[in-house]
Amino acid sequence: MTKLVYVAMSADLVHPGHLNIIREAQKLGQVTIGLLTDEAIASYKRLPYMTFEQRREVVEQLKGVERVVPQETLDYVPNLRALKPDFVVHGDDWREGVQRDVRAAVVDALAEWGGELIEIPYTKGISSTQLHEAMKDIGTTPDMRRNKLRRLLRVKPLVRLMEAHNGLTGLIVESISANGKNGPREFDGMWGSSLTESTAKGKPDIEAVDVTSRTQTLHDILEVTTKPIVYDADTGGKLEHFQFTVRTLERLGVSAAVIEDKVGLKKNSLFGNEVPQQQDSIENFCGKIRAGKAAQITDDFMIIARIESLILEQGLDDAIARAQAYIEAGADGILIHSKSKTPDEIFEFCDRYQAFDRRVPLVVVPSTYNQVTEAELIDHGVNVVIYANQLLRAAYPAMVSTAKSILTNGRSAEADSQLLSIKEILDLIPGTR
Ligand code: SPV
Ligand code: MG
Repeated sequence: MTKLVYVAMSADLVHPGHLNIIREAQKLGQVTIGLLTDEAIASYKRLPYMTFEQRREVVEQLKGVERVVPQETLDYVPNLRALKPDFVVHGDDWREGVQRDVRAAVVDALAEWGGELIEIPYTKGISSTQLHEAMKDIGTTPDMRRNKLRRLLRVKPLVRLMEAHNGLTGLIVESISANGKNGPREFDGMWGSSLTESTAKGKPDIEAVDVTSRTQTLHDILEVTTKPIVYDADTGGKLEHFQFTVRTLERLGVSAAVIEDKVGLKKNSLFGNEVPQQQDSIENFCGKIRAGKAAQITDDFMIIARIESLILEQGLDDAIARAQAYIEAGADGILIHSKSKTPDEIFEFCDRYQAFDRRVPLVVVPSTYNQVTEAELIDHGVNVVIYANQLLRAAYPAMVSTAKSILTNGRSAEADSQLLSIKEILDLIPGTR
């Protein structure tokens, strides 16, 4: 009887290593490819360049492939239990590192029906990781980047954004990954924070840094990154001006603009009512949302309406009424902000929001209620979390302490142990050498 052979892959950038695995698998029997879905891939690394359907089209045409089935998790076991293959074939490069546990679960599952794991030597000189690095070097296009936020929202339970206020912080958000409880994690995109960008320029967060200057910073970030950007457009300014901003952002490949429902001289939300701040009327703000939506050219760009009712102590009912009105006016997302120390009022909002007939992605910024976990946000139906200012807040104390140390000691030697070494700084940015 023909044996069943299972091979799982993402197949985003197909290379000879993949073909070698399929060739070896075919020697053992009929090959079924478990093609990882966008959800499965995005659960542990960046979105694939091609969608599931595009990747399926490619893989179905590969010589030796009998059929393609979706693999909906990084974990093979659900598909293995359903198909009970005689063999699973994989390269031998997964025994150590992030895939180790996945491999162990495959071995255990196969043992249930006497299946066997066949590991073949990893093809040297080419790997998906290398190709991904090369793709990053090539960069991305505004169209591809703009569309990424909507794609992420479709496949990820929670999209994770980190502030970037210059090229270097953009690079950090682009490339840093760390091991979380369920494997490796990355930031999905960047938040173009008005607070950190103004602060980096030594200016107050009162819309004093104009859109031309903000756009220049975006250029710096765009030049060295590929991940999507959500831009903090403050109040959006005058409706007629906001329309130009929308087109500028869209043309650059920014995925979304967030506008907050305040008028007059905007002050940072984390002050709350400590400083005079005025909320816009529902009617006026809906007009601005409509004007923004009318200005955009692509279907990809998103306008996210930010509600300041909790910040300005106007109560939950006001926040809910505004959310309904803003969605009705065409907002593609709702950002509910809070400066409470606990997530209670945000959770109350979320729970009432879940009962809406018409919902759009929900965004939160847990700067003050920072005990809240991503898992809790997912439980309450939040779709996007923004870490709005942490990189800048980390950098400032380090810079002040270094400046003081040099003044105190009359030299820099004492500060040196806290610093990136000269060698490290020279190697930090690709192309410096
Ligand atoms: C920002 O990061 O600029 C924001 C969030 O708008 S907050 O500072 O909390 O207002
Ligand atoms: Mg801001």
